Order: sequence, then C-alpha cells, then structure tokens
Amino acid sequence: QRFLVFATMMGAKPTILVSEKLGDAGLELLKTFANVDCSYNLSLEELCTKISLCDALIVRSGTKVTREVFESSSGRLKVVGRAGVGIDNVDLSAATEHGCLVVNAPTANTIAAAEHGIALLTAMARNIAQADASIKSGKWERSKYIGVSLVGKILAVIGFGKVGSEVARRAKGLGMNVIAHDPYAPADRAHAIGVELVRFEEAISSADFISLHMPLTPATSKMFNDETFSKMKKGVRIVNVARGGVIDEDALVRALDSGIVAQAALDVFTEEPPPRDSKLVQHESVIATPHLGASTTEAQEGVAIEVAEAVLGALKGELAATA
Ligand code: MLT
Repeated sequence: QRFLVFATMMGAKPTILVSEKLGDAGLELLKTFANVDCSYNLSLEELCTKISLCDALIVRSGTKVTREVFESSSGRLKVVGRAGVGIDNVDLSAATEHGCLVVNAPTANTIAAAEHGIALLTAMARNIAQADASIKSGKWERSKYIGVSLVGKILAVIGFGKVGSEVARRAKGLGMNVIAHDPYAPADRAHAIGVELVRFEEAISSADFISLHMPLTPATSKMFNDETFSKMKKGVRIVNVARGGVIDEDALVRALDSGIVAQAALDVFTEEPPPRDSKLVQHESVIATPHLGASTTEAQEGVAIEVAEAVLGALKGELAATA
C-alpha cells in the first residue's frame, strides 16, 4: 500500500481495469487519478492475463473474481470494486489471502432495486407480460388474464435491509399488509414503517406474496427449497430481485407445477444468463427479467460514482489509514 502511494506521488499512475460497463461520471472520476482500461466480455484467461498489470479491478455481477484471478495478479491487485451491492461474485477469502481490499457501492441502487421489485409484483399480479405477448400476437384474451388484487393481501419481505425496507414502504402505499423476516433487522426500524418482524416460518406460511431481499451467503443458499415451499400457503406468489441462488430452482418448478406457488417474478438466476431451455424461465406462470434491478439511468450513474470514490479511496490509502 505504502509503495503504491509512494509510486503515485512520484508520478506513476495506478492502472484500473473496468471489466463491465460503468457510468461516465464514475469513469471520469477514475481518470483524474489513474489509467483506466475498459475491457468488457473478457474470458477468464484474458482477465487473468490483464490483471497482473492492474492495481484495481471494477466489476458488476457478470465478472467472476475467482481465486485464479487473485493468484494471477502476482500481488499487484490492491482493490476490487463491485459496482453494486452484492459481493457474492468475488472470492473474499482469496482476496484477504492476497491482501486485496474489496469495496462495493452499498446505497446508490437501493431505490432502483426496490422499484423493480414493485414493478415485478404488480406486473405478476396482473399478468402484464403474458397479456402483452398475447395482444402482440394478434389475440384479445380478456378472460384469460384475470389477475389478483394486492390491496389487503399479506406481503412477507424476507431480508429487511435497505432494499427490503423500501419495498415494504411502497407495498404499504399499495394497501398491502406487510410483515418481514430478518434476523439482523432492528424491530424499531420495522415498526417505524408499520411492519411487523416475524419468525421465518410465520412469514412464509401466512404470506400471499413473498419478496426476497437477502444477500446470497452459505446460510441463505437454497433457503427456498422443497421443504420451505411445502410450508407456504397454496397459491402464494414470489418475487426475487435478490440472488437466484437463494432459491432451489428445480424445487420452484415443482412448486409451480403443483400449484403451491401460483406465480413467480424473477430478476435473478442461479446461472446468469440462465440456459435457453430453462424450465423455470419458460414456465407459463413465471415472468422474468435479465437482472435489471439496478438498471436505471439514475442508479447506474450513482453506483459508478460511489464505486469510483471507494476504489480511489482505497488506492490512496484512505481505508488503510482508517482501518
Ligand atoms: C447489486 O448487487 O447491486 C445488484 O444485483 C445490481 C447489479 O449486479 O448490477
């Protein structure tokens, strides 16, 4: 770290590899201090070759920053910046072992993700995607697409962090009764927006709608599986804008086929992009979007600036000094 700061003071600019599209304002900020190499769609081999010449790497969710990447950096890589919240695509143990900081952009896309969750919730309840495809194919199927109302229904928000609480706030505005489960959320924050925190079993067994907002960790991986689906109210509807891996996708297909789950609206998948013949994506009771939760103009500009500031802060040694 000291060497990097010293080298920078002597006029040698650090090099930052940006491996996925980043908003212009963030790129401009990075360029004030570093050489910026924007190289998208790199294979793992190409990434490993480039990384040995870089002091920092900035990714979104498409780049898998594996142990191999850290090993290939030969100790030069000092910081990985994740332009978004979830850092599940970065091998954190390997980063620590290689003395590399991992920073993210924790706030800028909160509202975008919450709005996308609500968009999926309402679109699912009123069959918007299916009805749109139907009318575009020349049909006029009014009785086929009778939806369900949201008002008065119970929405269980699983994961009551930043995005989960914003979804809850908006759902209350739609007249829903919102409950939430999150072992780490303070009850007073929930009460402040009129949400009751309940046990996991109570949340999933009483909900008409379930919206997922937890990070993907070993504890949450496949948290929604045959057993959890079997405890749900028949006809429950599920929204996932968190991570695909929190759901056992084969179990969800079974739950949709049996009618336990009436509909699902999914923005995230275990494998991204999912296979073309994915039974889940192709299911008639599923609507799907390609990981668009953070994809608004406003959020992407905000995220770009937030991650650029965090990466530059780390490169300049600010984090080391305050650690
Ligand atoms: C996030 O973790 O912030 C979101 O999934 C958004 C993204 O990956 O772009």
